[in-house]
Amino acid sequence: MLVVSLNSEKKINQKLENSVLVSLDSVKKTYEDGKISVRALRGIDLKIAEGEFTTVYGPSGSGKTTLLNLIGALDKPSEGQVKINGSIINELDRNGLALLRRDNIGFVFQSYNLIPVLTAYENVEFALKISSSNNGNPVRNSKERSAQILEQVGLGDMLDRRPNELSGGQKQRVAIARALVKEPRLVLADEPTANLDSKTSKEVLEIMLEMNSKLKTTFIFSTHDPMVMEYAGRLLEIRDGKITREERR
Ligand SMILES: Nc1ncnc2c1ncn2[C@@H]1O[C@H](COP(=O)(O)OP(=O)(O)OP(=O)(O)O)[C@@H](O)[C@H]1O
Ligand SMILES: [Mg+2]
Repeated sequence: MLVVSLNSEKKINQKLENSVLVSLDSVKKTYEDGKISVRALRGIDLKIAEGEFTTVYGPSGSGKTTLLNLIGALDKPSEGQVKINGSIINELDRNGLALLRRDNIGFVFQSYNLIPVLTAYENVEFALKISSSNNGNPVRNSKERSAQILEQVGLGDMLDRRPNELSGGQKQRVAIARALVKEPRLVLADEPTANLDSKTSKEVLEIMLEMNSKLKTTFIFSTHDPMVMEYAGRLLEIRDGKITREERR
């Protein structure tokens, strides 16, 4: 009996280990800002398995964006190790980081980061085209897919508008469409519903949940929005650069 249960526990651990997509080991991040140094992350240990829907919440300045930037291979830790899809980001050069992001990660930034001279439609299609592969498959029907995802986020009649002709919430939805269109393994979204009304928030969360269940896409959000927290399968509270509470549902 004991042998059986030990074996099955080993199998479960093995399975978990195999499906880990993101792993942070004693991660610290200090920003050196002239004479002042800011300890934004003070020791984070975290594993996120493929297919998890995780929300990070905590007060302003607690380190949420910093954490997402590290998980997104946009920045490197000052100490500790960040591993994404088997690659240790500490060891990658700029080019390696760019490829890792291109092929695995979709971002929704707090500040949108849309390309101002491109229309909503072109912003989305551009992201799809530069990704050149979609989970290893060649991209087909990029035009139809870009238009379709914009329609799904409720912007079907705004394809030709440039970012400066869109409201904050509409820009946010273009950014969400752009992150989802390449069907990446991992989607990182920094306060994705901050500029959306509750009906639109619900609609985009439903699209993400559907991707999560159909494609096993892993989502990591930061938020202050209680509705986003309700959708999460896993909640992490961060305070002063440390994870202070965790809940799974
Ligand atoms: N590039 C930077 N240079 C210096 N300090 C920074 C930099 N980026 C962030 N910080 C500092 O690091 C800490 C964590 O910032 P971070 O942006 O991660 O917080 P946050 O939880 O995302 O906050 P918010 O909810 O306001 O978006 C803050 O004290 C912030 O001032
Ligand atoms: Mg932030």
